[in-house]
Amino acid sequence: LLGLAVLLLYARRTRRRNEPPLDKGMIPWLGHALEFGKDAAKFLTRIKQKHGDIFTVRAAGQYITVLLDSNCYDAVLSDVVLLDQTSYAQVLMKRIFSLNLPNHNPESEKKRAEMHFQGTALTQLCSSMQDNLQHLVTPSEMGLKVSEWKKDGLFNFCYSLLFKTGYLTVFGTEKNNSAALAEIYEEFRQFDKLLPKLARTTVNKEEKQIASSAREKLWKWLTPTGLDRKSEHQSWLGNYVQQLQDEGVDAETQRRAMLLQLWVTQGNAGPAAFWVLGYLLTHPEALRVVREEIQGGKHHHPEERQKNTPVFDSVLSETLRLTAAALITREVKQDKKIHLSNGQEYQLRRGDRLCVFPFISPQMDPQIHQQPEMFQFDRFLNADGTEKKDFFKEGVRVKCPSVPWGTKDNLCPGRQFAISAIKELVSTILTRFDLELCDKNAKLPLVDPSRYGFGILQPAGDLEIRYRIRS
Ligand code: HEM
Repeated sequence: LLGLAVLLLYARRTRRRNEPPLDKGMIPWLGHALEFGKDAAKFLTRIKQKHGDIFTVRAAGQYITVLLDSNCYDAVLSDVVLLDQTSYAQVLMKRIFSLNLPNHNPESEKKRAEMHFQGTALTQLCSSMQDNLQHLVTPSEMGLKVSEWKKDGLFNFCYSLLFKTGYLTVFGTEKNNSAALAEIYEEFRQFDKLLPKLARTTVNKEEKQIASSAREKLWKWLTPTGLDRKSEHQSWLGNYVQQLQDEGVDAETQRRAMLLQLWVTQGNAGPAAFWVLGYLLTHPEALRVVREEIQGGKHHHPEERQKNTPVFDSVLSETLRLTAAALITREVKQDKKIHLSNGQEYQLRRGDRLCVFPFISPQMDPQIHQQPEMFQFDRFLNADGTEKKDFFKEGVRVKCPSVPWGTKDNLCPGRQFAISAIKELVSTILTRFDLELCDKNAKLPLVDPSRYGFGILQPAGDLEIRYRIRS
């Protein structure tokens, strides 16, 4: 009876004065949930055409206000009190990682991550990452003779290499021989593939079992005591484990938290490196210019090598514009007024969610980026070879033409490390390997539409390549 009453109450919701346009969809309670989950980008683009830069949709009983005016993202999301990020994060942690961390405090997490992923710690981390990668691409580690060709999918090739590199660097465990690393990657991928379905609670029985089994294995391998914690006070992970212990978190929960951190730190850079190389291999002009740039910096010290690479930086920015698709979600704690960049005022309702989806705007907004679906390697380059920062929409300068790392008050603390790892992987592959498409005319695979909302997109298929270690 109570359920029915709640259902009727929700069904009766009407738009109040100053609230965004309300679009409940045709199906009671469920609203737009199916279309939203199937392809969030397509769905939100359709509703944007109908209602504009702000609207409220119903999805599985929840009312979600979607904001797509990129010039006001930073200002709106700066209210970290009334727009709370913890409640929805808790829901996802439970669904995806089977994890309850009631004391999870994003602010202190952010500080810790900034301390360990920036400044001098970052320099050390990057140099250790470079060493690990160089070790992983030796013929013995790759199980490949010099000059012997091998076939693989580019996604698997990039993701597995960068995952193993990142795992050794951030998790630094004793379980580090190539067979163990391959096993961890395989289980991680089983889990990662099902992540959107776990988040939406749409896994079927068989998938549930696959996810549970992968999680169990990873939890076992990621036992904090099994990880290398020699430098506990210097390392981000050691410090995190210590914090959990101080909070009285039990051993089982600590292990589950390790998998969360494994995904946060390793789940995006590998797919991003795939798209970078995928775009380069399918755009010969871009590949030629990037190769020249890498060649020019060959004689510099490793730290310097990454610094003066305007073309590569533009290629990376362009790749992230096309593939970074995190949905930034907050819970509205109290009724609250917000302003769009044109000054228009809207009222948010307590208990609703607010979502910002930079992928649609600014990143794929045709008024900001011409032919937004096209890869243009020099989109972020000025004619004089410097970084292009000025982009306009209806004559007004756009604050950020792309938002891959989140908004101002919640920027990804690992972004410099991620950039460094992607650059290192791509330049290592281009210099240490001969790499070519199996089919010269192959096109990049389409995007798996269920991944919209979960960080860097993943392809629906793969791009077949063959490679060999150069002599
Ligand atoms: C958070 C993007 C790689 C560590 C975030 C957020 C974004 C993001 C958008 C904020 C999410 C939100 O506001 O809800 C990316 C992208 C990456 C990447 C596009 C690669 C291409 C990394 C790496 C690390 C890292 C390599 C660390 C080694 C973190 C951490 C957080 C975070 C610790 C905070 C998570 C939390 O809320 O607890 N990232 N990231 N990221 N990222 Fe990254």
